[in-house]
Amino acid sequence: MTSIEHSPPAAAWPVRASLAGAAALTLAAVAGALTGRPPRLELIAQAGPAIQIHLAAVVLALAVGAWQLLGPKGTTTHRALGWTWSLAMMAAAGSSFFIRTIIDGWFSPIHLLSVITLVGLPTAIWAAHRHDVRRHSRIMTSIYLGGMVVAGGFAFLPGRLLWRVFFG
Ligand code: HEM
Repeated sequence: MTSIEHSPPAAAWPVRASLAGAAALTLAAVAGALTGRPPRLELIAQAGPAIQIHLAAVVLALAVGAWQLLGPKGTTTHRALGWTWSLAMMAAAGSSFFIRTIIDGWFSPIHLLSVITLVGLPTAIWAAHRHDVRRHSRIMTSIYLGGMVVAGGFAFLPGRLLWRVFFG
């Protein structure tokens, strides 16, 4: 049986794509902040609590998730940070059901990602518990890719809150 103490092959393409996407988002935010005027953080202060909780959760998940993908697997730290990351992702997905801005007042296709995240997290944690490293790694990497890069990327599209904060 494969042991959880063994790291899965590092730097497979989904891991590289996830980290590149997360880095690109961070760079876009930093570049926007450096090139023009300072970011309009007051727009975040004026946003509702669901958006503020969502943003706090995704900022935590972005950093902790990158560390998890790159760092050693199977250690006590990996487990502790794994729980931290999972709770942050649950908070991100859970809070998103209270945000309905894309289709005013209605759920949008991105909410499907929230449902997938809420189903995928316990599935991946259960896989780790059963020492099914390959399945655990595949699901967690997919959630990071979908959540941080796809949902995060959409959040920077023109008209959306973060576009207005950094570029609008
Ligand atoms: C880097 C990661 C992320 C960033 C920066 C981000 C940012 C945001 C922001 C600022 C909003 C408020 C609405 C607006 O933009 O005008 C939002 C809404 C939303 N986010 Fe995220 N998010 C991220 C990750 C996630 C994840 C992980 C999920 C789900 C698993 C998610 C699902 C949603 C959904 C469903 C909405 C509501 C869309 C709507 O208005 O219909 N996001 N996000």
